[in-house]
Amino acid sequence: MSLKGKRILLGVTGSIAAYKSAFLTRLLVKAGAEVQIIMSASAFDFITPLTLATLSKKPVLSKFQKDDSGVWNNHVELGLWADLFLVAPISANTVAKFANGICDNLLSATYLSARCPVMIAPAMDLDMYQHPSVRENLKRLLSFGNQILDAETGELASGLSGQGRMMEPENILEKVEEFFSKTQDFKGKKVQITMGPTQEAIDPVRFISNHSSGKMGYALAEAFLERGADVFVISGPISLKVNKERFHWKDIRSANEMFEAAKALHPKMDISVFAAAVADYAPAKVAKEKIKKNDAELSIHLIKNVDIAYSLGLEKKLNQIHVGFALETENESKNAQSKLKKKNLDIIVLNSMKEAGAGFQLDTNKVHIFHRSGASTQTGISPKNQIASLILDQIKLVPVQV
Ligand code: CTP
Repeated sequence: MSLKGKRILLGVTGSIAAYKSAFLTRLLVKAGAEVQIIMSASAFDFITPLTLATLSKKPVLSKFQKDDSGVWNNHVELGLWADLFLVAPISANTVAKFANGICDNLLSATYLSARCPVMIAPAMDLDMYQHPSVRENLKRLLSFGNQILDAETGELASGLSGQGRMMEPENILEKVEEFFSKTQDFKGKKVQITMGPTQEAIDPVRFISNHSSGKMGYALAEAFLERGADVFVISGPISLKVNKERFHWKDIRSANEMFEAAKALHPKMDISVFAAAVADYAPAKVAKEKIKKNDAELSIHLIKNVDIAYSLGLEKKLNQIHVGFALETENESKNAQSKLKKKNLDIIVLNSMKEAGAGFQLDTNKVHIFHRSGASTQTGISPKNQIASLILDQIKLVPVQV
């Protein structure tokens, strides 16, 4: 893909991998990007500014003040100028500065001023890369929405072998191209997603629940976020590693709590996605104390839970889109389509229970997507993030003015 017209700020910090930034600069410029390089002082020990200036066809910046001239290198302007701020390689030191708001050089001050997305490619020795302090700092950067181009595994400058090598320039170029090719077609849209299982208490220590992992719901939340939406997640208890800071996130336990949260958000939402595996029934009464095993048999009286998708379907306005899921074991398509109508959905995504590689706890899925119009499309077995992206593409086809 051409990067013509794309403005990239390329930060280079003190790491042996800095020599690779010369090659990276060449690749970016060759792809058509305008590249402005900012070096940290210690990067000078590894590569000369002349090399990078020649390859980027622009003077390299490193200090707050232009040499001799008394003119200020305006980090605020630099931050506004760029479409993407890429730091490759980024040292453990600069990672720590970015994570903690330290701005003692032009590069870190520009980071704080940058309004554009930030991508970083760490490079360091394997033990440094695994150190809890570095992990914690990277986690913080991730929570700020920065994209981390994870270090690759191989031989390191120290002579040791492990994870810590900066991602190869060709692979970084691919990530940059991927970033620019991503459309922001849900920008300005508010989306709520129910996900995960619900837990219905029996007594203070027991509950009724199901095997939902929340993986599909979370993949959808991430896909909406990447495509520019403002994402509100209402999640049942899950053990998935998630990045809550990137979303408006609410944890709930029971179907009733999920319903209350979704109902409160609903009037403001453009899109509501019901990806949760809501328990259909809950104990009529929650025992105050732990139930003792006195008798040979125990009956628990269950009553129907509120159907969140159905109830909010009754309140749906013409400019709102509702997306539901269905899990069927028989008459799959027919049942899914009747659920679509009953719950006033625009799209229903039918999960296949019969396919190997599709289902609750897996990272892959295969779905059949039905529109209210009757149109439908089927996917192959793919990673859940790819399925999520296809579902978003289908949502774009819903003839509703959101
Ligand atoms: N759903 C919901 N609230 C419920 C039950 C289901 O919001 N109490 C939503 C699910 O999130 C999903 C859709 O409705 O988007 C269909 O869920 P599913 O469990 O397949 O259907 P049910 O209506 O529960 O029907 P059944 O279990 O009888 O197949």
